[in-house]
Parts: sequence; C-alpha cells; structure tokens
Amino acid sequence: MTFKPAKWPRRLRSAEWYEGSSKDVIYHRGWMKNQGYPDDLFDGRPVIGILNTWSDMTPCNGHLRELAEKVKAGIWEAGGFPLEVPVFSASENTFRPTAMMFRNLAALSIEEQIRGQPMDGCVLMVGCDKTTPSLLMAAASCDLPSIVVTGGPMLNGWFQGERVGAGTHLWRFSEAVKAGDMTQDEFLNAETAVTRSSGSCNTMGTASSMAAMSEALGMALSGNAAIPAVDSRRRVMAQLSGRRIVQMVKDDLKPSDVLTKKAFENAIRCNGAVGGSTNTVVHMLAIAGRMGVDLTLDDWDRCGRDISTILNLQPSGEYLMEEFFYAGGLPVVLKRLAEANKLDKDALTVSGETIWDEVKGAVNLNEDVIRPVDNPLTEKGGIAVLKGNLAPKGAILKPSAASPHLMQHRGRAVVFEDIDDYKAQIEDDALDIDETCIMVLKNCGPKGYPGMAEVGNMGLPPKVLKKGIKDMIRISDARMSGTAYGTVILHTSPEAAAGGPLAVVQNGDMIEVDVEGRRLHLDISDVELAQRLSDWQPRHETARSGYAWLHQTHVEGADTGADLGFLKGCRGAAVGKDSH
Ligand code: FES
Repeated sequence: MTFKPAKWPRRLRSAEWYEGSSKDVIYHRGWMKNQGYPDDLFDGRPVIGILNTWSDMTPCNGHLRELAEKVKAGIWEAGGFPLEVPVFSASENTFRPTAMMFRNLAALSIEEQIRGQPMDGCVLMVGCDKTTPSLLMAAASCDLPSIVVTGGPMLNGWFQGERVGAGTHLWRFSEAVKAGDMTQDEFLNAETAVTRSSGSCNTMGTASSMAAMSEALGMALSGNAAIPAVDSRRRVMAQLSGRRIVQMVKDDLKPSDVLTKKAFENAIRCNGAVGGSTNTVVHMLAIAGRMGVDLTLDDWDRCGRDISTILNLQPSGEYLMEEFFYAGGLPVVLKRLAEANKLDKDALTVSGETIWDEVKGAVNLNEDVIRPVDNPLTEKGGIAVLKGNLAPKGAILKPSAASPHLMQHRGRAVVFEDIDDYKAQIEDDALDIDETCIMVLKNCGPKGYPGMAEVGNMGLPPKVLKKGIKDMIRISDARMSGTAYGTVILHTSPEAAAGGPLAVVQNGDMIEVDVEGRRLHLDISDVELAQRLSDWQPRHETARSGYAWLHQTHVEGADTGADLGFLKGCRGAAVGKDSH
C-alpha cells in the first residue's frame, strides 16, 4: 500500500494549546514566552518534542544533550518549533535491581508526556538498551509522527593489542580471572580501554541491536544505526532527522504507517543477519503489542529460521560497530537480505520511501566484516524458539552465540533456586557439577527477579573453567546481555515465579535440549510433573507497594514482551478520559 501524504497546511494538535485568545491559550502560550520565544513561533507550525534520554546517570546517552542541538537546528531549518523534553532514562549499567524493570515505567511516563503536552511530532533520542524500546513503545501507544535518533556506538576498545568490546570482554575477562588466565590488575587496567569514547556499547549488544531494529523497522533514517557517537556524521544524521520530522508531521506519517507486520518481520530477519541480541525479542514483542500488531514468538522462529548471520561482529564474531560503519553499515545488510528475498522491499520508512529505495544503492566496503550470504559467520543465525514440557510457552536461544557441540544434549540438572542461591554455591568446589550438566536458574523472570535481569548467562563454576571448558548449557527465565555469549536458553515461559514448570525442576533431573528439533524437555512423567506443579509454592512474596507492586502485579510473560497488560494497544494522542 502506498502512503498518501495528508494535505498541508492544516490545523495541528498543538493548536489546541497555542491558537486563539482564550484564557487557557494565553496561559499555555504566555508562559512559554518567558523563555524568549517570539509570537510567530505559535503560528500553527509543527511543534516537535525532542524526547531526550540524556542523563549523567546514563553514560551511554551522556552526549545526547549536545546532539539534541543538531536535531533542533534541523527542525528550525525545516520551519518547525523544537522543544526539548527530558524523559525517563534507565541506564543498563547503573539502574537497580535491573533497568528492564523500568522499561515499562519509562514507556508509561513518556506516553503521558507525549499525550499531555502540545507535540505534533516526536524525535526519540535514545541509545542505551532500554531507552530505545521504551520510547518506541510510548510512540506506538500515542501514534504521533516519530523518528528515532540513536546516540551511536563507542569507538573500538583496544587492550594489549586486542580489539575489546564493551560488555563482551567484561564477561570474558571476568571468566579469565576466575580461570587464572588473567590477573586482577590486568582486569582493572582493561576497564577504561573498553569504554574509550562517548556512546553505547560497541558490540552487537542490545543497544546496537535495537538501533539496527529501529532502522530495519523503518523508524530511523537509513544508515543511522552504525555511525559512531563521536563521528561528525552522527551529528549530520541528527540534523537531517530534525528536518525530516517536520515534513513527517506535515504529511501525517505516523508509527502505524511504518510499524506494520511486514516491518517487524523485516526486523526479525535483520536481527538474525546481524547476530542481534536476544533482548530484541521481548522489546519487539512489546512494541508490536503497543501498536496492535499481532507478532508472536512463533514469528521469531519462522522468520529467523533460515537466516544466516553475515555480520562478523562481537559477541558472535570478531569486529566492532566502528568497523561495521566503515564497511557500509546496516543498509548493506538490508540490501543483502533483499537480494536473497528475505526482506519485504515495500515496507515504508520514516523517509517516506520504501526500505528498498533506501538501501538499494548500498555498497559493501569490507567483505570480512559484512560477509557474503554464501560465506556467513553462522549458517543459522535467527533466534531459535524452543518448546516442550519445560517451556510450554517457549524459551529462546541465540545459535550464533552458542556452541555447536551443545545444540543437542541431555544433561543432569544442577538447580539454583534464585540468583542468591547461585552466588552462594557456584564457587564451592563441593558443588556436584561438571561440564555435561545443565545449569538451571529459577525466579529471575519478569515477576520473579523482579524485572527479568540479565543474569541468564551465569558464569561457569571455577572448577569447570579451570579444565579449559568455556561453555555449558544454562537454562533460566532471565535475560542475558546482548553482549554475552554461550549456549544459554533464556526467557523460559511461563516463568518460575508464575508457577511455570521451570519452578519444579529438581537437582538430578535429566533435561533434553534439541535446538534443531526446537525441543526443551524435562525428562519426568506427566504425572510427576503435574504433582510437582500442584505442590508448588511461590518462593518470594510480591511487593506490597510502589512501582514494584504495580510491576509484579501487572507484568505479563516474556513470551508476549513482558509489558504491563493494561498498557497494551494504541491509545492515540488525544487528551481525554480514554487515555487516563
Ligand atoms: Fe548502555 Fe551497553 S550499557 S549501551
């Protein structure tokens, strides 16, 4: 379906606040003038809210305050009226108990910030993991014209002559210290080498993956995802996006025009091609839920099943985002998908053009970074969705980050009832565990942790690491950092805290994993499983007040995006009782 721009000029939403001579309008407009805005800015031109997740406490987005000035310049140039609005910013590396618990709170608060204020369009200034989905969820709920501007990744890290990636090498070095292969002093010296410039994680972690998803969905201008934070072209991108949002408002080009089922399917395939984070699964399901698009876990498996990972980036591969940019960035990947008939070329983007129009001219400048389809990094790169009596609603695994020899395995369960139980036992040499066992972690899902922390890639026991073993199967209802790796089965649903079968796995049970067969099986009889489930009691009490109560009471399963149930669906931007 071709997009038909709306007629311009026409009366915009902001006129409800700024047009006329009533007492209310004078109140809204007059108070704005205390900032020195002249009369003619309130003449019906598009008012653009620059929703900025800048925060000194969100270091990955620490440069967005400055970058917003370039967005403003673009909006002024195109005849709009830019107004910058600070919004809830949850830093992945700082927020406790986990930033994920606050993704939905951020989305809720930002949705109301959009709806309750005189915005005609929005620029979503994001970067760190949760900031991107929370703003996209809010924009989908309100359905005002919106464009994503990410802050861009950090420059490459280097340590002792080795390319080191944010997050990925934190896990690697931490394991190396435990295994006795690295000293604590070396670990400390590596700290600043990994994070040497402004920007988000420079691996294909969750921030880079969500930047790629934004572009593949069509919600960001083409080429946005990979430009390093400190590259002058990042600032050019910000300015161009500022110009573009003004025209989007005039055309009335909204998220609902862009965020269609085919756009999500394109993004899922793109996630497989870039070796994207497992976290994109819950975020994309949540964004689709807000938009009213029927996207399911099965769509992830169906669309991603025959996608090869062609991007050679950490944690699956070798390089970092800086090299991805130099190689041509995401347009090259999308073009390769389109040429392999794995992309719906007609999907609309915020540019007003189709995704194919945007990427058809892309040129690959480094075939080792962006591999040819017939020489991929990993043959099967899409997210695998496993089901069985241990995960009736599904669990996920990222094959490109897993070990081939563990893709079909039967092992004895070593159970940790929660993350504290894991921490208490894992370093104990008396723990009855070896590399053939399957580590099972419970009570770390959306309700359980609470907030579904990134602890699913639990470190291996030191006594196994000392044998030179680098990977074991781990199963949990938690998430893992997009920068992490290993044969890690995540998001097991229903989660343990909701009484899912994961809750009743016992030490010594045998578990069968068959990734090709998409099977996750607890090898006990149906009668035994039913008996254990009927005897099950929750391990932790639900919070009694505050946001923790709201979250634990209303959060839904990871299999549908872990959103708060009452926030699903598009409520639109009209101020009224339906939105409150
Ligand atoms: Fe913020 Fe990785 S911790 S982008």
